[in-house]
Amino acid sequence: MSSNVNSVSYTIKVALVLCAMCSIMISGAAVLLKPMQTANQILDRNRNILIAAGMYDPAVNTNADVQSMFERFNARIVDLDTGSYLTDEQLAELGIDPLTYSEAASRNDPALSSALSSDEDTANIRRRVRYATVYSIESAEGAYETLVLPVSGFGLWGIMYGYLAIEGDGNTIRGIGFYDHKETPGLGGEISNPIWQAQWPGKQIFDTAGDVAFELVKGGGQGESQVDALSGATLTSRGVENMIAFWLGQRGFGSFLTNEVKS
Ligand SMILES: Cc1cc2nc3c(=O)[nH]c(=O)nc-3n(C[C@H](O)[C@H](O)[C@H](O)COP(=O)(O)O)c2cc1C
Repeated sequence: MSSNVNSVSYTIKVALVLCAMCSIMISGAAVLLKPMQTANQILDRNRNILIAAGMYDPAVNTNADVQSMFERFNARIVDLDTGSYLTDEQLAELGIDPLTYSEAASRNDPALSSALSSDEDTANIRRRVRYATVYSIESAEGAYETLVLPVSGFGLWGIMYGYLAIEGDGNTIRGIGFYDHKETPGLGGEISNPIWQAQWPGKQIFDTAGDVAFELVKGGGQGESQVDALSGATLTSRGVENMIAFWLGQRGFGSFLTNEVKS
C-alpha cells in the first residue's frame, strides 16, 4: 500500500528522518573534528606564549615555527599555595597533563579552584585556580632564561586572559600577550596592540622591598616599573595593573618566584 505524501503523518515521518540524519551528521562532524580543534587550540596557546616571550613575529613565522620554537619550553605545573612544582606522582594523582592543562577550564572546578573573598580578589576574577602552568626556558646549566606565566584579570567588559613573560631574574618583564578579552576595539582592546605592548619589555615588576611596583600611568609611564595607561580606557588599564599585582603577589606566583626562581 503506497503512503499518501500529502498526509500529516507522512510529513512528520519525513521531518523526523531528516532531523535524525542531520543530528547524526552534526554529531559525527563534531567527533571527527574534535582532535583538530584541540590541536588548533594548543597551537594558538603556544603561539601566544611565544608572542609574550618576544620570540614570534607574525610577519615572518609560520605554524611549523611555533611547533619547533615551543619545543624549547618546559611546561610544569605549580601549586600556587605552596609555590612549588607538582611532582610526577602528584600530577598522576590529580590527573593533570602539563601540556594540555587549562586554567580556564579548572576555574569552574571546585576540586581545582576556590572562591576568592572580596578582599583577596583584587583582580576581580572571583575564583582562583590552585594549579597553574609555568612555561620556562632554561640554560644548559639549568638557570632560568625565560618564564611565561598565565595571567587573568577583569577589565571593563569581562576577564582578560594573557601571558606575562619574565626574565630569569624573576623581576624583569620580557613581554605581555593577551589571547582572550572582551574590551572595546580601539579603547580597552588596545591591550592587544603590539605598539602598546612594546613598552613592557625591560620594566621591573618589584621594588627593592619585594612588593609589586609595576603600574600603568596615565600620560606617562616612563619609570622603570611604569607603562603608559591606555587613553580613553582607564578601567581596562586599571584592570591590567590589578591583574599584574594579583598574579605576581602572594595569591598568584609570588611564593613560586621566591621559592623556585629568585633563591
Ligand atoms: C561604547 C563604549 C565602550 C567603551 N569601552 C571601554 C573599554 O573597553 N575600556 C575602558 O576602560 N573604557 C571604555 N569605555 C570608556 C569608559 O566608559 C570610561 O569612560 C573610560 O574608562 C574613562 O577613561 P579615560 O579617563 O581615559 O577617558 C567605553 C565607553 C563607551 C561609551
